Amino acid sequence: MKKSESRYKKDQLFSAPKESVDAFRFDETVTEVFHDMIQRSVPGYATILPFIGLIATEYAQDNTTLYDLGCSLGAATLSMRHQVTAKACNIVAVDNSEAMVSRCIENMSKDDTSFPVSVHCKDIQQTHINNASVVVVNLVLQFIAVNERATLLKKIYDGMNPGGVLILSEKLHFDDDHHQNDENSENQIQTHLHHAFKRAQGYSNLEISQKRSALENVLIPESLDVHLSRLKKAGFSQAFVWFQCFNFSSIIAIK
Ligand SMILES: C[S@@+](CC[C@H](N)C(=O)[O-])C[C@H]1O[C@@H](n2cnc3c(N)ncnc32)[C@H](O)[C@@H]1O
Repeated sequence: MKKSESRYKKDQLFSAPKESVDAFRFDETVTEVFHDMIQRSVPGYATILPFIGLIATEYAQDNTTLYDLGCSLGAATLSMRHQVTAKACNIVAVDNSEAMVSRCIENMSKDDTSFPVSVHCKDIQQTHINNASVVVVNLVLQFIAVNERATLLKKIYDGMNPGGVLILSEKLHFDDDHHQNDENSENQIQTHLHHAFKRAQGYSNLEISQKRSALENVLIPESLDVHLSRLKKAGFSQAFVWFQCFNFSSIIAIK
């Protein structure tokens, strides 16, 4: 991403007071600032990315396809492209935002690695998965309707080769013994710390609260238990957390 970094503007989309906040969409406006937005909004994002390439390198099998589902600007694709050493592999990157896809194609063409990548503007729920040794779903499942998540994961599982890996990163919701609005509940504490991270990245309280409103009913987080049991139910023999920073986590699931 380094070469094109300067092309991305600072995220100020929620800095001015809005009379009403529209539902969040991955449109042109968000695409322009996305590189800055995700780094300053997701604690641990900058750590997860290089590790996606590292994990993919361990699991990529010769003559297979690596999928980046919900690729946005192609950050995870580039991490795999720069690290994976398996022979005769290709990467399929998919996103249903036209703006993201066109910027992703541009980013791939500026990258001088020869590892074959194809970028598709498509719904990942309609994307055929086949001969996959690595599938990355980095901060994307949270945008899929809750009742459609199991079907998507089963489809991914069915399209993977034995021994392949799914890397699934998500924002988490925490259920504990406290009422979820109780300030001592884990959910409230983790949310408080996430907002502290955003303030430390330069976001104002207004930006944090307006973005939160925009994402309400668009990004639906679930608990770690729900994710892990859904992955097991889909058939994965192993599913466990390899990374967590506050209310963001990344899971490895192995077929
Ligand atoms: C938070 S971003 C993902 C970040 C990206 N994976 C990365 O590592 O930088 C979510 C992306 O998922 C895409 N998306 C959401 N729902 C989708 C769907 N049903 N099909 C394809 N892409 C989807 C959005 O357009 C957006 O680009």
